[in-house]
Amino acid sequence: MDPLTAAALEARQRARAPFSGFAVGAALEEEDGRIFTGCNVESASYGLTMCAERVAAFRAVAEGGRRFRRIVVAADSEPLTPPCGACRQVLWELCGDVEIVLVNLKGATESVRLSSLLPRPFDATFLG
Ligand code: THU
Repeated sequence: MDPLTAAALEARQRARAPFSGFAVGAALEEEDGRIFTGCNVESASYGLTMCAERVAAFRAVAEGGRRFRRIVVAADSEPLTPPCGACRQVLWELCGDVEIVLVNLKGATESVRLSSLLPRPFDATFLG
């Protein structure tokens, strides 16, 4: 199995999802080859919950990652789980038009570009 997919599936096992029961893992690959993982972490104050993709992206930035090649998102769903709207926005700003690979536990997989999930994005270029 591709190491990035394996990392996302492994990260999923660390999800803290006592409220939804829906575990998600993400693995983001830096251009230098480093892999940064994340899992969803839920809060009893539900709105504070953080998705796996943003955990991975924020962690990557905090640890010095700057340019990213791909992100794998792993969940036990059919159809495959895409990033939520908030994660699409954050991924656009931190990763640009990155390749997003969706996978599930049965081995189904699909690759999409972020620009196809987030057409006409808002970002810092509008801020002058
Ligand atoms: N979730 C993610 O971590 N990533 C996604 O792409 C979709 C949703 C999490 C948030 C929450 O903990 C649970 O899945 C149910 O929405």
